Amino acid sequence: MNDFWINEPRVAQQLQHVRSFIVSSLEHANPFIRDLLLERVASGGKLIRPGLVIVGSALGTEEREDAVVRIASVLEMIHIASLIHDDIIDGAKMRRGIPTINALLDPKKAVIAGDYLLSRAMSLINGTEGQLPVAVANAFSRLVVSELDQDAGIGNFFISQNTYIRRIAGKTAALFALSSYAGVAVAKGSTLDQIRMHRIGYCLGIAFQIQDDMLDFTGDETKLGKEVGQDILGGIPTIPLITALEIESKTSTQKPLSTLLAKKKRLTRKESRRAVDLVIGYGGLEQATTLAEIYIQRAMNDINALSNSEVAAQLTRLYLRLTHRQH
Ligand code: IPE
Ligand code: IPE
Ligand code: MG
Ligand code: MG
Repeated sequence: MNDFWINEPRVAQQLQHVRSFIVSSLEHANPFIRDLLLERVASGGKLIRPGLVIVGSALGTEEREDAVVRIASVLEMIHIASLIHDDIIDGAKMRRGIPTINALLDPKKAVIAGDYLLSRAMSLINGTEGQLPVAVANAFSRLVVSELDQDAGIGNFFISQNTYIRRIAGKTAALFALSSYAGVAVAKGSTLDQIRMHRIGYCLGIAFQIQDDMLDFTGDETKLGKEVGQDILGGIPTIPLITALEIESKTSTQKPLSTLLAKKKRLTRKESRRAVDLVIGYGGLEQATTLAEIYIQRAMNDINALSNSEVAAQLTRLYLRLTHRQH
């Protein structure tokens, strides 16, 4: 397993059950699809979403370990499926340190593998989870709508911070919020803790995606297990770029960045590298950090109000790891 949860032994141990549960859920798949999927499960994702389910479940009043592991598995399976499909959309070649299915074979196989994983995830929901199935459907629908919105806007770099936040709220924070809420809901925690965990997950998700978008500028491909520098090249505006454009419009008469980005929808590698340098020069990364910190602070307000101080401490350690991560 990826060492992301190394300092949380109880969570790490439960995550082993999640991994085994996912593997056994894929047992009856067509062998070809099964092997492709198992490789992805084994290749060391950080397991943040199932980890959040497990952390949140400690706020509950009931043990319900089996249901917690099952729901945590559902969320990781939805996440992996969304990554398989995201990599087709983005034309990504590497993920979790191994070639993506679309790069290795072809996009058709990747679509089917992602669909299969989604269908297995859905069939693991068995009707004993109260409101949770509706929440799962809503979060997934938000994710898809945001991916569609991002795709429709490819090449348009001139979007507002609000549009960006709305986009990442759907594509990332919705699943983080759902994961944080799911554990405490399944284990029957108080309504107040459920609401707080939902908000905490949302804010962590926004901060996490901002960090991911910064790592696309500064990250190390080997550590991340995926290519960097792909967002601008792929025509996707993210927060360092959006804030850099705002700074440029106020401070520069030449406006080299906006001139470069207005020229055409897709930049060459050389133009894209130039754009990256300009964004860094304008302080776009520092602006992105400041925005992420606002969301972390919001999350902290709710974390400190949770009914269980050990869970609060665990979530505080988690956000520190999330915002200082290199992978
Ligand atoms: C990647 O998520 C997609 C984003 C939301 C940025 P993770 O960084 O959690 O991916 P894995 O599961 O660890 O591979
Ligand atoms: C997250 O966005 C994708 C999903 C939530 C499906 P990105 O496109 O930034 O994720 P990476 O960088 O490919 O992991
Ligand atoms: Mg992507
Ligand atoms: Mg990214």
